[in-house]
Amino acid sequence: MTVPSTAAAPQGTFEREMAREIARRRSFAIISHPDAGKTTLTEKLLLYGGAIHLAGSVKARRAQRHATSDWMALEQERGISVTSSVMQFEYDGYVVNLLDTPGHEDFSEDTYRTLVAADSAVMLLDNRKGVEERTRQLFAVCKRRRTPIFTFVNKCDRWGEDSLKVISDVEAELEIECCPVTWPIFREHGFAGVYDRREQLVHLFGTDSDHGSRQAGVSIGALHDDSIRRALGNATHDRLVHDIALLDEAGHPFDHAAVLAGTQTPVFFGSALTNFGVAPFLREFLELAPPPTPRETTTRRIAPDDADFSGFVFKIQANMDARHRDRVAFVRVVSGRFEAGMSATHTRTGKSIRLASPQTFMARERTAVMEAWPGDVIGLLDRGTLRIGDTIATNPDIVFADIPRFAPEHFARVVLADPMRRKQMDAGLRQLTEEGAAQVFFTSATDVAGPVPIVGAVGMLQFDVMLHRLEHEYGAPCRLERFSGGNPRWVVGPAAEIERISRQRGTTLLFDAKGHPLLLFDDAWSLRYAVERETSLTYHESAP
Ligand code: G4P
Repeated sequence: MTVPSTAAAPQGTFEREMAREIARRRSFAIISHPDAGKTTLTEKLLLYGGAIHLAGSVKARRAQRHATSDWMALEQERGISVTSSVMQFEYDGYVVNLLDTPGHEDFSEDTYRTLVAADSAVMLLDNRKGVEERTRQLFAVCKRRRTPIFTFVNKCDRWGEDSLKVISDVEAELEIECCPVTWPIFREHGFAGVYDRREQLVHLFGTDSDHGSRQAGVSIGALHDDSIRRALGNATHDRLVHDIALLDEAGHPFDHAAVLAGTQTPVFFGSALTNFGVAPFLREFLELAPPPTPRETTTRRIAPDDADFSGFVFKIQANMDARHRDRVAFVRVVSGRFEAGMSATHTRTGKSIRLASPQTFMARERTAVMEAWPGDVIGLLDRGTLRIGDTIATNPDIVFADIPRFAPEHFARVVLADPMRRKQMDAGLRQLTEEGAAQVFFTSATDVAGPVPIVGAVGMLQFDVMLHRLEHEYGAPCRLERFSGGNPRWVVGPAAEIERISRQRGTTLLFDAKGHPLLLFDDAWSLRYAVERETSLTYHESAP
């Protein structure tokens, strides 16, 4: 086992156990543009982690479980996955929590929140396409939070952009230092292996006889071994030696502190499809990625080894199982030890709750969990008490800082098909808001029961899901009237000024469910103009 030693840990048995469990945990999410290979890589990580034995089962299980609810039928119809889950597996002594994020580019608010629960992120790139739109957006969220980012350049089994160009594009586009940890070796017939610069070893891949459904065979040797030169052929070997010398001389030296600060990204090359390069990536990633990190509360910082159990809800999933109309609240454990059946305070309401039926997740399968440590995610069955951002802790003074809400990109009025169903619609919108599946706005700060609520969504698909659920779960069929204003900003300043600016500049003024004002600008130009000229207000992309 290569997990860091805990020799400096405190002496008590519990403290020692806790220090060991914290040191071996890694909780991360994969960020990518659709089609870069996230599902394939996830599956291969599970394969290497021994959580599945033959690749192909995640996709198969996903298809099979699609039948479980109407809502999932919608996903199936659209050929996408809008729900996400958490997968835990062990590898080389580490406990790995892979927080899966929805793949579709249209449905990303959940992804933002999942990134808040992760301690690091793997940025997956297609070797032909480099940095794409969704990657850029998710990267920006990570950068703002200073989340350490590890880059995996995928699909190296087929011809792609020159590796040096991929790296310099990432540096230029995302303004982050790249440090290649593995470097791809290509020869005439394709992807031959990778050179691991930290280990200073060449990994040569065996032939892919079963299309990547099992772990890839490799042979390993030093760069200047005769056997490696013979296996690669003189020309390929010379090129590799030249590339490595170039990287050593001209590249950024590896700087672990910079990686942990989110200013340098270690880069790996591989092919999730054939498994080539997956094992060195997983091993080095686990070694270099941070263990569970401290989290801010409204008053102080809670370290993972704080003795009090604490965690926060980052996601609420409705209808995971059509037979039980329950919700599952996903809680990221921040500190202490969680034990099944323990009681803790739900700090928003001050009520004590018994954490009775916790679950962990393996893809969509639920398994009971008896114990969890910082970095882990537990699923709590919830009958409507918990909300996104809520804290659950044995010490009632702990209240974690709110999870930021991102400004929606699309807005629409919700129009009821049958005006008699107003109550059902309101109940539905309230629940969808608590789950974080919708953001509801009003045209007046005081009139939150006003005639026509307005919903906001990060992606258009979120609207489809909302309408579907309002009709099928709450019995309130509705339609949406879209309106323009794709450049929203939460604004802070004197109320009279906000109203004047809204009137004079012809922008729409809305209020969120907490009464915070939001201005919708017609285009980027008018937004910029207001930001420059109307300095009595401050403008925010997420809710203040
Ligand atoms: P996503 O979750 O990021 O959307 O991507 P997914 O894994 O579904 O992969 C998208 C496509 O890219 C799939 O092909 C997949 O097989 C392919 N792919 C993933 N990793 C690699 C790789 O390392 N090399 C190559 N050559 N292809 C890769 P598809 O034809 O759309 O689907 P399928 O029929 O293979 O399932």
